[in-house]
Amino acid sequence: MKALRFQEFGGPEVLRLEEVPEPQPGPEEIRVAVEACGINPADWAIREGVLGGEPPGGIGIEAAGVVDAIGSAVEGVQLGDAVVGHVSTGPAGPTGYGGASEYALLSNFTPVPPQLDLVRAAALPLAVETAVRGLDLLDAAAGETMLIHGAGGAVGTIAVQIAVERGIVVIATAGPHNLDRLRGYGAAVTTYGDGLVERVSTLAPDGIDRAYDMSPPSSLADLIELVGGDPGRVLTISDHDNADSHGVPATGRAGTVFRWDTLPVGIRLAAEGKLDLPVQVTFALEEFAEAQRLSEDGHVTGKLVFRVGTGS
Ligand SMILES: NC(=O)c1ccc[n+]([C@@H]2O[C@H](COP(=O)([O-])OP(=O)(O)OC[C@H]3O[C@@H](n4cnc5c(N)ncnc54)[C@H](OP(=O)(O)O)[C@@H]3O)[C@@H](O)[C@H]2O)c1
Repeated sequence: MKALRFQEFGGPEVLRLEEVPEPQPGPEEIRVAVEACGINPADWAIREGVLGGEPPGGIGIEAAGVVDAIGSAVEGVQLGDAVVGHVSTGPAGPTGYGGASEYALLSNFTPVPPQLDLVRAAALPLAVETAVRGLDLLDAAAGETMLIHGAGGAVGTIAVQIAVERGIVVIATAGPHNLDRLRGYGAAVTTYGDGLVERVSTLAPDGIDRAYDMSPPSSLADLIELVGGDPGRVLTISDHDNADSHGVPATGRAGTVFRWDTLPVGIRLAAEGKLDLPVQVTFALEEFAEAQRLSEDGHVTGKLVFRVGTGS
C-alpha cells in the first residue's frame, strides 16, 4: 500500500510517499481501507520528533474508511461498515504507519451515518476530542464568559460551537477571514494581535471568566490579565513551553486523559447538521508537499483533509 512516512525526523523534506506492507490489526483494533485522513498541526510535530518515538514514522492521527479487517476482541462492527476514528499506528510507532495511508488501524472508532461523507467525518475526531477536553477542564458554567483565543482553526471552530451550546458567552479571536463564520456560531469576535486586551475588554465589560488558548505561543500574559490575574482560569493546548512559567494549566502532554469517548456524539451532531467544521481543501496523498505548506502556514479555515479513496 501507499503511505506517507518519514525515515528520519525533520522538516517537510523528510516526508515521502512509500510503498509498504499493509498493517495487521491487533486484537482490539480494526483496519480500514482509508477514504480520508484529517491533517493536523500534530502531524508536523510528529514528523519533527517533537512528540517522541523513533523513526520510521507515519503521519495522520484520524481517518475515515471502510472496515476491511477486525481484531479478535472487537465487537459491534462488521466488514464493510463506514467508520471514523483515532489512528493507533502512529506516531513513529512499532509499525511506523499513520492514517495518511491506503490502510490504517483504528483503536477508537464510531460508525459514520450515511448523511455524513467520509471527508467531513475524517476532519472531526481530533478537533472534537480536544475541544471537549479543554472545555471540560475549564469547567465554565452557563452564563460565564469565555475567551477562545486562536479560534479560526479546527479545534476553535468546534470549541466555539460547543461552548455556545453549553450556554457560555463566547468571545473568539481569529484572523479577519474567519470572523464572520465564528460570529455565525454565536460568538462575539475580534482579531488577535496588538491591542488584544483592549479589544476583548471592550467586548466583555464585565470581564472574562475563563480563557481557552489554542494560538501560537506568546499570549499567556495577555490572557492572564484578561481573566483578572488568576492563571488557573486559563488553559492552553498550544503553548506548553511557557505554561509552567506562567502557572497556566496545559493539556495534551504526557499523562493527559484523552476524550475519545466524545467521538460518537460529535459524529452524530455533525451528521444532523448541528456541528460544523468546514473542510477548506482536500489533497491527494501525492500532493503532500502542498498540504504541509498550507497547514504549517498556520491560517487554515476549518480543516485540511487527505482524500485517499474514491468512494467518499
Ligand atoms: N494539546 C493538545 O492536545 C492539542 C490537540 C490539538 C491541537 N493542539 C494545538 O492547538 C492548536 C490549534 O490546533 P488546530 O487543529 O485548531 O490548528 P489549525 O486548524 O491549523 O488552526 C490554527 C489556527 O491558528 C490561528 N492563528 C494563527 N496565528 C495566530 C495568532 N497569531 N494568534 C491567534 N491565532 C492564530 C489561525 O487562525 P486564522 O486562520 O483565523 O488566522 C489558524 O486557523 C495548534 O497549535 C495545535 O498543535 C493541541
